[in-house]
Amino acid sequence: MKAVVVTAFGRPDVLRYVDKEMPVPGPGEVRIRTVATSVNFADVMARQGRYHAGGQPPFVPGLDVAGTVDELGEGVDAGWQGKRVVAFPSGGSYSEYVVAKVDLTYEIPENLDWHTAAGMLTVAVTSYELLTKVTQLAAGERVLVHAAAGGVGSVALQLARHLGASRVIGVVGSTKKMEFASTHGADVVIKAANGGFAEGVLEATERKGVDVILDSVAGDGFAENLRCLAPFGRIAAFGSASGKPGQVQTQELHGSCRSVRGYSMGTTRRLRPQTLRPSVDAVLGLAASGKLHVPVSARFPLEDCKKAHELLESRQSTGKIVLVVQP
Ligand SMILES: NC(=O)c1ccc[n+]([C@@H]2O[C@H](COP(=O)([O-])OP(=O)(O)OC[C@H]3O[C@@H](n4cnc5c(N)ncnc54)[C@H](OP(=O)(O)O)[C@@H]3O)[C@@H](O)[C@H]2O)c1
Repeated sequence: MKAVVVTAFGRPDVLRYVDKEMPVPGPGEVRIRTVATSVNFADVMARQGRYHAGGQPPFVPGLDVAGTVDELGEGVDAGWQGKRVVAFPSGGSYSEYVVAKVDLTYEIPENLDWHTAAGMLTVAVTSYELLTKVTQLAAGERVLVHAAAGGVGSVALQLARHLGASRVIGVVGSTKKMEFASTHGADVVIKAANGGFAEGVLEATERKGVDVILDSVAGDGFAENLRCLAPFGRIAAFGSASGKPGQVQTQELHGSCRSVRGYSMGTTRRLRPQTLRPSVDAVLGLAASGKLHVPVSARFPLEDCKKAHELLESRQSTGKIVLVVQP
């Protein structure tokens, strides 16, 4: 079978399309024939050697997959055979076949197409967990989403509205992304490539600020979140696309009852896999019923994943990028 391997940390040309041995499912695992997988920013960081949960080269990158179960490991219920599933595989997903624990494998609703299913798993589950568990968004609250036209961003905007947010504000890095964020659920979109968003947020909220902030960018702009976060507000820190950590002064938190909480899907998958299933079921259900639209904006064949990485790290992409593996 074919797979893509990161041969050394570095630029996209370290990605090689190679022959690999077919994986064999162990106890409690299924093997999946991949139809499509998606490109997440974590894949770029893993390739660069900057992802906290990334491997050492050579390794197969990729977090999520959609395909058909074609072999069962010991102890797996026979009902899984032949099912259309999405999964977080045990190894990387840029591969014609993967193995995944049954605990991290989920049946795709009948009317959900392959590419939406492949594109949504990581971004939709992350967004849902951030809003419901990490920041515990309540109906009527105001939400700010950074990188709002990206994979996570464009889904988080919609889920915030679905969960009852009274105002959803998106920050994007360029003018061309503004309309995209509006179309996907932002009431207000602010262009700010490297900080410079707080005043716009205050203007859009009668100077009250927002109650929830989803920040995947971190870096120099992170502290600015505290300028536009209302008392009792919560920030979810779940990425550092800027390449730099964010800084927080504790005195900016306790007096105003505000908080910053971290989240990692990778850590949750590893240490508390069973806690993810309700979130996966919720987002698959929303997508199947048309209440959540996952914008797949670009598709590449698996062997062209280099181009997909170049697009994602160019900061020009919107929505999700899907890698088509097998018809
Ligand atoms: N913790 C978790 O479990 C978890 C799970 C999924 C994703 N994430 C994080 O969530 C973020 C979004 O992931 P995604 O896959 O959906 O990617 P994405 O949002 O589609 O792409 C990343 C976006 O980050 C923004 N960005 C800001 N500074 C950047 C820089 N210096 N270089 C490149 N991009 C920069 C860009 O948007 P603008 O140009 O609009 O600023 C870019 O489009 C990533 O930081 C990722 O690591 C975390």
